[in-house]
Amino acid sequence: MPELAWVNGEITDLYDAKVPFMDHGYLFGYGVYEALKVYNGQPFSVEEHMDRFERSMKEIRIKPELSRKETIEIINDLVAKSEYQDALVYLQITRGVGPRNNPSLPKAKPTLSMFVAYLPPIDDSFRQNGVKTVIVKDDRWAHPHIKSLNLLPNILAKQIAEENDAFEAILADKDGIVTEGASSNVYAVFKDTIVTRPTDGRILSGITRLVLCKIIQQNGFNYKEDYFTTEQLKEADEVFITNTGAEVLAVSDIDGTKIGNGLCGPITKKLYDLFIQEVNREIRR
Ligand code: PDD
Repeated sequence: MPELAWVNGEITDLYDAKVPFMDHGYLFGYGVYEALKVYNGQPFSVEEHMDRFERSMKEIRIKPELSRKETIEIINDLVAKSEYQDALVYLQITRGVGPRNNPSLPKAKPTLSMFVAYLPPIDDSFRQNGVKTVIVKDDRWAHPHIKSLNLLPNILAKQIAEENDAFEAILADKDGIVTEGASSNVYAVFKDTIVTRPTDGRILSGITRLVLCKIIQQNGFNYKEDYFTTEQLKEADEVFITNTGAEVLAVSDIDGTKIGNGLCGPITKKLYDLFIQEVNREIRR
């Protein structure tokens, strides 16, 4: 099955796709992106992802040429052509091509590109036992609520995680207050209350977080949006992360400190099950 790319209307095998050197996405990281999960050949929460994509574009002054409807049609078409049932759709738009000394490019056409690639399921043992994490200082720019291409601090944090045999880096500010994961949102369970940081501009408003917060409220869990330090996080009864690929995933270890009994806790397990039920409700089987 081919992994396919779509760049300004042209479809190629993923690794044959090309964009020009002078694209300001390449030169300056001037662009924003989305990552959607495909279940049974259908992208999940596509409208919510498009809401965020449009918000991100507006924040960095990119005006798309295509409507939301046209973009979704292209996504669906590319997924169908790839024949993948379970996959990742990556969608990106940049400011376009033009001279390096002209950062506003008033006449440039934004470069829209996307790809569909295989997304392996989360390892069974990670699902059951949770994953290892490390704490890394959050030294990103002041606008991490924009899903921008500027992921250098996130990627460096991921490298530190990898070097420590950890699945994710949990970012914390200079006062030790947790912001989010390098590519996920972070939650703590204290007794029976689920706590996560408010979307205060210092974190990305995750689509998985959005869906899960609805589930949490509909099912009567105790829930609070609040701040917590890395030390408080290490003492939580359960810790978990969410993102499009990992869905709801337990954390069993932070910097070598075992969380709870070191396995996926009961509230995390329940939330994962409810999340999958929600996926199955939206996706036609
Ligand atoms: N990243 N926080 C950050 C910094 C992220 O990069 C992501 C997702 C999330 C969770 O968002 P969502 O639930 O919408 O996936 C939170 C994606 C997966 C990525 O960069 O590939």
